[in-house]
Amino acid sequence: MQITAAAQDPLATRADLLAVGVFKGGIEGPGAAPVLGALGLDALPVTPGFRGDIGQHLLLAAPGLDVGGVLLVGLGRMDEADAERLRRAAAVAARAGGRARRLATTLAEVHPTGASVQAVAEGFLLGAHSEDRFRSAPASDASRLDEVVILTPSSRLSQARDAIRRAEVYSRATIGARRLVDLPPSAKRPAQLADAIAELVGEACEVQIRDEAVLAAQGFGGILAVGAGSSHPPRLVTLRHRPRDPLGHVVLVGKGITFDSGGLSLKSPAGMMEMKADMAGAAAIAGACAAMAELGVRVEVTALLPLAENLPSGTAQRPDDVLTAFGGTTVEVADTDAEGRLVLADALALAAADEPDAIVDLATLTGSVIAGLGQYAAGAMSNDPDLLAAVQAAAELAGESVWPLPLWPELDRFLASDVADLRNIADRPRCDPGGGAITAALFLRRFAGDVPWLHLDIAGPAFLSPALSTDYRGPGATGFGVRTLLTWLERRA
Ligand code: BES
Ligand code: MN
Ligand code: ZN
Repeated sequence: MQITAAAQDPLATRADLLAVGVFKGGIEGPGAAPVLGALGLDALPVTPGFRGDIGQHLLLAAPGLDVGGVLLVGLGRMDEADAERLRRAAAVAARAGGRARRLATTLAEVHPTGASVQAVAEGFLLGAHSEDRFRSAPASDASRLDEVVILTPSSRLSQARDAIRRAEVYSRATIGARRLVDLPPSAKRPAQLADAIAELVGEACEVQIRDEAVLAAQGFGGILAVGAGSSHPPRLVTLRHRPRDPLGHVVLVGKGITFDSGGLSLKSPAGMMEMKADMAGAAAIAGACAAMAELGVRVEVTALLPLAENLPSGTAQRPDDVLTAFGGTTVEVADTDAEGRLVLADALALAAADEPDAIVDLATLTGSVIAGLGQYAAGAMSNDPDLLAAVQAAAELAGESVWPLPLWPELDRFLASDVADLRNIADRPRCDPGGGAITAALFLRRFAGDVPWLHLDIAGPAFLSPALSTDYRGPGATGFGVRTLLTWLERRA
């Protein structure tokens, strides 16, 4: 899809569709009044299905205009309009476009800033993305838009063009991550996924891939134990973004379980659905890394992406096994379905050994975080309040919901093991402290050492079923985290 900015009168614009915003209660957004006037409507057609709420739209015929139709797009309450609502409204317009190929819109004028042009462009690019690599023909409701013209006053044209370029980079990175997550598990065994990540980042990063022999020689006991049940052995991918004269060094760690069956602690069939998305943390980091050079990120970034397939078999790890993670910490494996923290233990220990300024990990780690925060937000846990505040502020700007959870010290003792340094789950029979997202994070914290560290549990927002996907997020993979990471890294420099 091509997005351009133009300083044109909406009534003089040629397009298949003209999308204009309407606030809740039928209050006309920018550009709406003259358009409705030209259609001979003196009041907005408020119907039970269109009151101007976010998510709603209404298609009108446009006799006498140069456009094929007028699409009214709900913007929600006027006093609550912000960039994120524009992003959602733009995505609704992209999905409601039907057969339209060229669309012009005044949506970005709701909040006349570069940030709103970027949000509108991202909404169109992300909302129009549909996954049709595995269909014989695109879905019938797939967007056919190939050109979007964002109407803007001539005084802001060059600012709008910069904003569109940034939206393209952010959206390409997000869609790159989505496409990895949407791959079926049989098409992304660890070695294949490592190659797909290398292809995604291209020349933007240095790439290093450790195979199972190197992992064994170097003592990555967590990754190897989780991958032991699969005939497709694990990998550890390292990506490096090395700017000249870097302003500090950050390590990103992403959970990359290409399919999580639970292992011998087998999940139920229903619990196994969507577990191809258990590598969404690694995918988000790979997507972000692909965009860093283009954005001119000034921070040096190392990404560590442990990739493994968690399957039951005669070679799988067993409950009661003890493994030695990178760096020497031993772990009693009480539940093979708590596998994410085992691969992350290795990667976090390797990250901490480098003594970077910060470590941020992204992981679809627990069902517990979904019980607590729902599917639209990630839980954030950190040993460093400043790092937490900075990532939360970046998420807010990016339009992603990141909510802090506490690292209660009184839960730590539940990770004590009778046989090893640590147990991988807190709940023993008849002794379950609850707070599974928190105890998982307390486990991870042991491996981050003294480095400022932040953990994002993205189990909820990484993947949305069609029923939960109403705007630019999903359906399927969302690429959650890509835009937060890029915003945080850009602001850090
Ligand atoms: N990958 C899952 C977490 C998950 C659940 C992600 C639902 C997305 C949706 C993780 O590996 C897992 O199985 N976690 C267990 C941990 C438990 C065994 C302590 C869980 O949350 O039930
Ligand atoms: Mn699991
Ligand atoms: Zn998992």
